[in-house]
Amino acid sequence: MKTPPPEIITDADITALSSFRLPARARELILLNHPDQLGQMPPTELRELMLGGGSNTVFIGDWPGRILLNRLSGVSFEPVDDEQVLVTAAGGENWHRLVVRCIRRGLHGLENLIMIPGSVGAAPMQNIGAYGIELAEVFERLRAWDRQTGRMRTFEREDCAFAYRDSYFKSIAPERFLITSVTVRVSRRFQPQTGYASLKNAMDAAGIRQPTPEQLAAHVMRLRRHRLPDPARMPNAGSFFKNPVLEANHAEQVLRDHPDLPHWPMPDGDIKLGAGAMIERLGWKGRSVGDAAVYDRHALVLVNRGQAKASDLKTLIQAIIDSVQQTYGLRLEPEPRLMGPQTS
Ligand code: EPU
Repeated sequence: MKTPPPEIITDADITALSSFRLPARARELILLNHPDQLGQMPPTELRELMLGGGSNTVFIGDWPGRILLNRLSGVSFEPVDDEQVLVTAAGGENWHRLVVRCIRRGLHGLENLIMIPGSVGAAPMQNIGAYGIELAEVFERLRAWDRQTGRMRTFEREDCAFAYRDSYFKSIAPERFLITSVTVRVSRRFQPQTGYASLKNAMDAAGIRQPTPEQLAAHVMRLRRHRLPDPARMPNAGSFFKNPVLEANHAEQVLRDHPDLPHWPMPDGDIKLGAGAMIERLGWKGRSVGDAAVYDRHALVLVNRGQAKASDLKTLIQAIIDSVQQTYGLRLEPEPRLMGPQTS
């Protein structure tokens, strides 16, 4: 049976499509439920924006173009050998539900990434990561629809330019590809990754030395619940700034003046500095502009206390960036995409 063309909504209210929930409208919103619909979209001169779960996109104004909402669904499992399994999930699937499904089937490797909000298709965009693991480590390949050629393309891991919260799709070819599916490699053998300091401390305190997959997932969820607000209750976009990664000699300069700043070496010799600690020490926790606020339990997270306006958020972001620049001599970068009429 032929797939019906995608639903197109004009002058759409898109407030609820972003987990930060600033009020916004889009000229056009297209709901993509089936891969066949990719070729059925009417051509347009409007600027296009691909959107998944909206947990890493903040609308700082109306979107004057078209939004392609990825709602493609379906998950399949393909055993490679006795141990390894390739799991392919459509871009519109929910990431957290995929992790839970794998754990229930006895497939391991994703436990530390449980409860990360957002869709499967968005996961490679910013190379999601938490508690010592990044998507890149379990990533096998993805399929994406190229807006420029109208064709499907396969990307292997080495094609994706994965880096800390970054990828080819985020910084090299933004808005060009709609990720239709992602394949991850998981294992029937459970090898828990418990090196991340706060995770290790929590498990030590509970007297757990060899966690079961369920125990590991439960501890990650507990840590996340404690440190990150539930977007359903208090709209937010997770960490609002990236932890700055500096070349070693620049980092050492900063650390000479601020020796107790948390920092972590990166595999390539660069050093990652804790932005949450900088923001907290500058006294930002709990401060607000209108209803845009710094979360009182975690300085790296900004929240919408209810009626925040784009102007409130922009003022708060700038004030934090300026204050960190003044004291630490470095420029924080927002982690979510900030999209609006004037954004490039
Ligand atoms: N810290 C503070 N004050 C704060 C928050 C953090 O001092 O208010 C310092 C502490 O020293 C703490 C350290 O920062 O030990 C690390 O805190 P946390 O484990 O929460 O890590 P994070 O750097 O704040 C990153 C990711 C999170 C991820 C956690 C856990 C980024 C931008 N954020 O946060 O990812 O869940 O690690 O691995 O890398 C996201 O990307 O949206 C996200 C939530």
